[in-house]
Amino acid sequence: MSDTPVVDEARIALLRADLTAARFTVDGVAERLGPVASAALHREQPLPALLATERSASSGDDPCGVLVRLFTLGRPVPASALAGALPSLGVDGAVALGLVRLGGARAGFASGPAAASEREVTATCDLRPYGDDAHDWWVASDLSELAVGGPLRPDHVLGIGGASTTLASWTVRRPVDRALDLGTGCGVQALHLTGHVGAVVATDISERALAYAAFNLALAASERAGAVPPLELLAGDLLDPVAAQRFSLVVSNPPFVITPRDESLPLYEYRDGGRAGDALVRSLVRQVGAVLEPGGIAQFLGNWEVPAGRTWRDVWDDWLEEQARDGVALDAWVVQRESQDPAEYAELWARDGGAQPGSETHSQMYAAWLRDFASRDVERVGFGVVTLQRPATDRPTWRSLDEAHGPVAAPMGPAVDAGLRARTWLAEHSDDDVLDVAWSCAPDVTEERHGRPGAEDPSVILVRQGGGLGRVVRAGTVLAAYLGVAEGELTARAALDAIAAVLGLDPERVRGETVPQLRELVADGLLV
Ligand SMILES: C[S@@+](CC[C@H](N)C(=O)[O-])C[C@H]1O[C@@H](n2cnc3c(N)ncnc32)[C@H](O)[C@@H]1O
Repeated sequence: MSDTPVVDEARIALLRADLTAARFTVDGVAERLGPVASAALHREQPLPALLATERSASSGDDPCGVLVRLFTLGRPVPASALAGALPSLGVDGAVALGLVRLGGARAGFASGPAAASEREVTATCDLRPYGDDAHDWWVASDLSELAVGGPLRPDHVLGIGGASTTLASWTVRRPVDRALDLGTGCGVQALHLTGHVGAVVATDISERALAYAAFNLALAASERAGAVPPLELLAGDLLDPVAAQRFSLVVSNPPFVITPRDESLPLYEYRDGGRAGDALVRSLVRQVGAVLEPGGIAQFLGNWEVPAGRTWRDVWDDWLEEQARDGVALDAWVVQRESQDPAEYAELWARDGGAQPGSETHSQMYAAWLRDFASRDVERVGFGVVTLQRPATDRPTWRSLDEAHGPVAAPMGPAVDAGLRARTWLAEHSDDDVLDVAWSCAPDVTEERHGRPGAEDPSVILVRQGGGLGRVVRAGTVLAAYLGVAEGELTARAALDAIAAVLGLDPERVRGETVPQLRELVADGLLV
C-alpha cells in the first residue's frame, strides 16, 4: 500500500539494529524522557516530552530523543539528525521503508528552528518501542491524534492502547499449535502470540492494518530470523476468512464500540465493526465455537447493552443460550470490568478520534449516541473480558458471570488459566468430591478482622485475595476457622466435621452450607 510501511527484510534488519543501538526501547525511552514527561505522555500530554527533546532536533548525540520527537511526537527533525539516529539504514532507507518523507512541518504545526536552513524529515507513521518480559519489539501504526493534531482518518490503524494491553494481559499463554488474532490492527496480539504458539493467523477487514501488522511482525522477526512461528495474514470480515480452520486459541480486541448508525458521524474502522448496538460482539459469541478445537479457548473484549429492567447477567444468559442453541456449546467466563450509563459512554467515545468537548461536532455526536441508546431503551453499557472454552470431552458446559471493577493481577493470564482449570474440575466433580480434597489456602490470601474497639470477637472477617481478581469474601465463623486450617493436610470434610464438633453444630448442615462457598473459593483460586 502506498501509505503504509513496506516489508523489505534487508532494510528492516538495519532499522532494528539502529533502533537497538539508539536505545529506542521501552526502558531507554523512559530513561531518556524521565518520569514526568513519560507520565504526561501516557496522559496524552506531549508538551513535557517536546521540551525534553527540543535540543535533540539539532543535536547529533541524542538518537533516542530524535526518534521520540519524530515518531512519537510527530515533529519534523533535520535530516542530518535522523541520519545520525539511523546510521545503518540512513534517511533514504527510512524513506524507502515508508516511515518518513522528506519535507518539514504539516499544516497547523510550527517548524523547528532548523527548518529554514536545513532539509527536514517528517514521520509518516508512529513507531514506538513495546515489549514483554522476554522481547524488545517496535510497533508502527498511523500517527496518533497527538501527532496529527486533529481528527483521525476513518481507516486509521490504531497503535497500542489500553484495550490492547488489557487483552494481552488476560490472554492464557499455554503453548499451543495454532492461534488466531481476529482484528489484528497493528499486530500487537499476534506479536505476543509468537512467544507461545506454533503458527499464527491474523485477520483484519482493513488492508492497511494488515500491511502494518506485516511490517511489525517482520521487524520482530528480524531479531531471530527463522526462529519465529509462521504467520498468515488474511483479509475479511470477522470469522469469514478462517471459517474452515480450527484453532486452540482465538484472541480478539474487536471493534466493539457501540456506534450510532448515523451517516453524519465519522466511522472509525478500528473501533466500529459496522453493526448496530452490540451485535458484533454478540455474533462473535455465537460463531467463535465453530473455529475452536476441542479444549480450545477464545478470549476477547467487548461492550454489551443492558436495557431497562434487565441485568448484565440476564443479557449474557440470553447470549449464551442462543450460542448453545445455534453453535457449539461452550464454557463461558465473563468478567464485567466496568459499567457506564449512556451519557458516560457517549462522552468517552465522542471524544475519541479528536473531537473537542464543547465543539459542535462533539455535541452532535454526543446527541446521536444518546438517541441511539434511547431507541433500544439502554440503561447501562457493560465492558469486560470474555473467555469461552470448547469442552475437550462430552460434558455439560459451565458458566461464570463475575464482576471485578477493581485492580486485578498483572499479567492476569495465569489466573485465567488456573480459573479455567478450576471451573472445569468443579463442573466435573460432585460436592462429595470437593469435600474429599485436602485444599490449601493460596499464598496470596490474607485475613482482616474488624471489630468494635474493646470487643473480644471480630464482628467482620474479610478474606482478601492478593492476586487473581482480587476477591474479598466475608467469612463467617465456620469458613474463617476452615481457612485457618486449610493447609493441604486435612480433607475439607474432616476439617469441617471437627469444626462442627468444637462449635456444637450439626456436621451435615455445616458441610451443606459451606460447600457452595468452597466451590466459589476454588473457582477464584483462593483455595488450591
Ligand atoms: C480495536 S482494533 C484492535 C487492534 C489490535 N488487535 C489491538 O489489540 O490493539 C480492531 C481491529 O479490528 C478491525 N476490524 C474492524 N471491523 C472488522 C471486521 N468486521 N472484521 C475483522 N476485523 C475488523 C479493525 O480494522 C481494527 O484493526
